[in-house]
Amino acid sequence: MSTDVRPLILDKLKQSTRIHHDRASNSLDILRVHLSIEEYRGILQKLWGFYHPLEALIANRIEWPLSTLNFEHRKKIPLLEHDLHVLGAPSFLPICTELPELADFAQVLGCMYVLEGATLGGQIISRHIRKRLGLDQTTGCSYFCSYGAETSNMWNTFCHILATYASSSAIENQILQAAHSTFVKFNAWFEEDTA
Ligand code: HEM
Repeated sequence: MSTDVRPLILDKLKQSTRIHHDRASNSLDILRVHLSIEEYRGILQKLWGFYHPLEALIANRIEWPLSTLNFEHRKKIPLLEHDLHVLGAPSFLPICTELPELADFAQVLGCMYVLEGATLGGQIISRHIRKRLGLDQTTGCSYFCSYGAETSNMWNTFCHILATYASSSAIENQILQAAHSTFVKFNAWFEEDTA
């Protein structure tokens, strides 16, 4: 008998953020057939401006059990910086200052649900970037390739930790609220003209 039952909290997260997810995909607007290398670099710059302060905010709170999440390995800033370096981005880039509130570990999990979930779409996007711009993991597309063949394992492990931590409705609500707020801030940042 299969024990592979998707925890309810993950269904709730997916359903309650679907509208924000679709908006995020639209704001990224990366699956265009005629995407230029400059436009692609601009998207990476925007992503860097969001991930950089957010990952720093998470990493600075040593009292949170980040090692259970293997947070060091999940950081996307090294990948974004590698890609931006390869693609010759300017050294000074705008940084997002309107970040989601991360007051406790439940909120970190809600926020990371959004950041980790993006690696799923990344699998589609990396194929598109390879086809359209000829870039791979070493030549400017390491962020979207992220965990590569390990993506599914990394996602399932993260979901398991999140679902285990969501042991009460109060914690569940904190996670849901933080995921919602992370998507809202992400979309606001992407829709803001910072060029
Ligand atoms: C063109 C852009 C994008 C595409 C094509 C895309 C596509 C996808 C796909 C195919 C999945 C898997 C859905 C499933 O297994 O049912 C997914 C999941 C997800 N994506 Fe995206 N995505 C995009 C952008 C983003 C962005 C920018 C974010 C975050 C800022 C994001 C966050 C998520 C999350 C949180 C999930 C997990 C949903 C769940 O199963 O709970 N995606 N995406």
